[in-house]
Amino acid sequence: MCGIVGYVGKDNAKDIVVDGLKRLEYRGYDSAGIALIVDEKICVYKKQGKIRNLEIELHKLPIFSNLGIGHTRWATHGKPDDVNAHPHVDCAEKIALVHNGIIENYSELRRELQGKGHKFTSQTDTEVVVHLIEEELKNSSTFFEAFLKAVRRLHGSYALAVITLYQPDTIFVARKDSPLVIGLGEGENFVASDVPAFLSYTNRVIFLDDFEVATVKSDGVSVFNYDGERIEKRVTVIPWSLSQAEKAGYKHFMLKEIYEQPRAIADTISGNLNWFHGETELKGISPDSFNRIQIVACGTSYHAGLITKFYFENLAGIPTEVDYASEYRYREPIVDGKTLVISITQSGETADTLAAMRLAKSRGAKLLTVCNVIGSTATREADAVVYTYAGPEISVASTKAFTTQLTALFLFALWLSRSRKTLSEERVERYLKELLEVSSKVETLLKLEKEKATIKNTALEFYRSKDALYLGRNVNYPIALEGALKLKEISYIHAEGYPAGEMKHGPIALIDENVPVIVVATKGKVLDKVISNIEEVKARKGRVIAVTNPDVKKVKELAEYTLEVPEADEYLSPLVNIVPLQLFAYYIADFLGYDVDQPRNLAKSVTVE
Ligand code: G6P
Repeated sequence: MCGIVGYVGKDNAKDIVVDGLKRLEYRGYDSAGIALIVDEKICVYKKQGKIRNLEIELHKLPIFSNLGIGHTRWATHGKPDDVNAHPHVDCAEKIALVHNGIIENYSELRRELQGKGHKFTSQTDTEVVVHLIEEELKNSSTFFEAFLKAVRRLHGSYALAVITLYQPDTIFVARKDSPLVIGLGEGENFVASDVPAFLSYTNRVIFLDDFEVATVKSDGVSVFNYDGERIEKRVTVIPWSLSQAEKAGYKHFMLKEIYEQPRAIADTISGNLNWFHGETELKGISPDSFNRIQIVACGTSYHAGLITKFYFENLAGIPTEVDYASEYRYREPIVDGKTLVISITQSGETADTLAAMRLAKSRGAKLLTVCNVIGSTATREADAVVYTYAGPEISVASTKAFTTQLTALFLFALWLSRSRKTLSEERVERYLKELLEVSSKVETLLKLEKEKATIKNTALEFYRSKDALYLGRNVNYPIALEGALKLKEISYIHAEGYPAGEMKHGPIALIDENVPVIVVATKGKVLDKVISNIEEVKARKGRVIAVTNPDVKKVKELAEYTLEVPEADEYLSPLVNIVPLQLFAYYIADFLGYDVDQPRNLAKSVTVE
């Protein structure tokens, strides 16, 4: 979490850095700050709260600078106020620094540096780094040498960007376990935690790896290892366009991203058909080289994992476990060379997911990652990558990343089923055809909502609720979890997802005439069972909102509200069924007047443990 941005070049760093920060605000929005070199001085401006507050303050100041760094914070150490906001400066006010990550040995370093006379002003872990560089400078012949010596002493995770009056034409950056990207322009260069920060200027990027530092000047970028040896880095061209990272007339990114799903699903299929049809290899993975699968992921990606367990077990016949990455990393998973560990991660930067991957790798597993961000850490550490083609997802609440993860993983499961001969060619073809139809089914659903506003009107009926219960069964049980997660993330209404059949063992006690019970009741092998569960809810005066298909009469009779979705193959029904639940959560949060794209306490990319 936290976003960092830096700019050096011919234009005004103030505007470019603030613009970049706005595009990274999804990473944290407790406070924002910027440091510029103006008239041989380091000028720092910071403000608690969203970037807008900083922007208003900066707007009044007619400053021009060719070089600057900025930060948007998701607080870890020290409360989110002006003092703890980044950038932080050294005692002499000749160095300014921004940081994303956690410095784990900051207490020892702080004590040591205070002993040497350094004065600290904040409660952050970050501030030690800038004082450490100042201290190392006493015994170094160049600023770069001091910077290197300082970063070598840090434990924990960090992406750092530093500017200094000692070398005012350069941004110094370093990375360990937190993302850092360098954007290459003409006579100008950029640094950031994520590509959208500078995508309007350049799509040519260098991804820094762990234990690498770089000097970024307007006319060139040099990358070094921690021994100070120069290294050559590959330049990657990012295929995203800026318009994909803008709202395009929608009120919120979340709504835009929900409406982008037909395109995103279709792109994810076409983007992966090469290896699916064997025209290119899925490098690093041989379909017969493992006899079980473990899936690790967090949040919405974890819910995608729960659904794909059905794909791997029922279609490909491979025993599959699904773990929260944050749990997996601290249990003793039984992993060997015959285990394929699949990490599902939109960002490719989630700290717990990366830690789970590293643990599995150290125990001999092969790693596949399903990821949306080219060049992210997960894609570089995995043996093989299956990309989703969702395009940039800006809203903190994940929507199109989820449906594209399911799409990519369904394709992968089909590929395994065909190679391992657990499905006939015909069935694989039939499933592929069904998958190809999902995109237009989602499109139909979205179009209908635009015309009739059924979901919006249902949300209007329920937006004052205090609790909500989501029920589903079988392959749609994770959809109940995901629907509940969406609602609580953005509307702050307490919501629980439950397997419908398990309701009688506890949550049934919650049901009364005030609690909306959202039931996924589409066609499939458990529909009759779900109908019985709806009856149980009704008997307790619960208010049922059912997601169902147009011709399922019984559900329509029983439910107070019906959200209709086109019928899809049972395995693929989650891709369609989740869409009304995303919209339901969206409209409730919007009716409540909340900041849909940036809900309180959350961040898009959780790069700390
Ligand atoms: C955060 C986000 C969620 C996301 C989760 C996992 O909690 O707010 O939307 O599902 O991280 O992120 P990943 O990038 O690994 O899929």
